[in-house]
Amino acid sequence: MVTSDQKIDILSALDSILAQNDAREKSLHAAMQLIAKHLPHYNWVGIYVLDGGVLILGPYVGAATEHTTIPIGVGVCGTAVATGKNQVIADVRDLENYLACSLETRSEIVVLIRTKDGSILGQIDADGHTVGAFDASDKALLEVIAARIAPLLLQEPGE
Ligand code: SME
Repeated sequence: MVTSDQKIDILSALDSILAQNDAREKSLHAAMQLIAKHLPHYNWVGIYVLDGGVLILGPYVGAATEHTTIPIGVGVCGTAVATGKNQVIADVRDLENYLACSLETRSEIVVLIRTKDGSILGQIDADGHTVGAFDASDKALLEVIAARIAPLLLQEPGE
């Protein structure tokens, strides 16, 4: 659950980050830090970049994960790409096609990052430690953030 005040604060701070025109990875990491700082139910939040038919882990905040590359169709992340649909999973224990990053994770949200013409560039992935941590307000916020950071994914990582 994201309040409208939190949404306004996060999007305003995101615009300041993007206005600095820092290198891609620095800006993406700052965006993930912003989400984690304002929203305590985001116990892990990061970017996966779609590259050569696999998802590659980019900047994130939270515990290190062994899932640094994820094939399309595998796990919640790969399912989002395969179906072209954002995923809000109330209880990850209900899923068979799930890649556990942490035993503490109980819920997950994945929102696709797309070009203006709809091609998938990557995704924002977040994990929560409680069942049902994410709702439509989280999805709506991440959809706006995804649209604003999409141009970064069109840059080379060092730019
Ligand atoms: N749980 C994800 C894998 C990524 S971690 O959550 C960071 C999945 O099932 O695709």
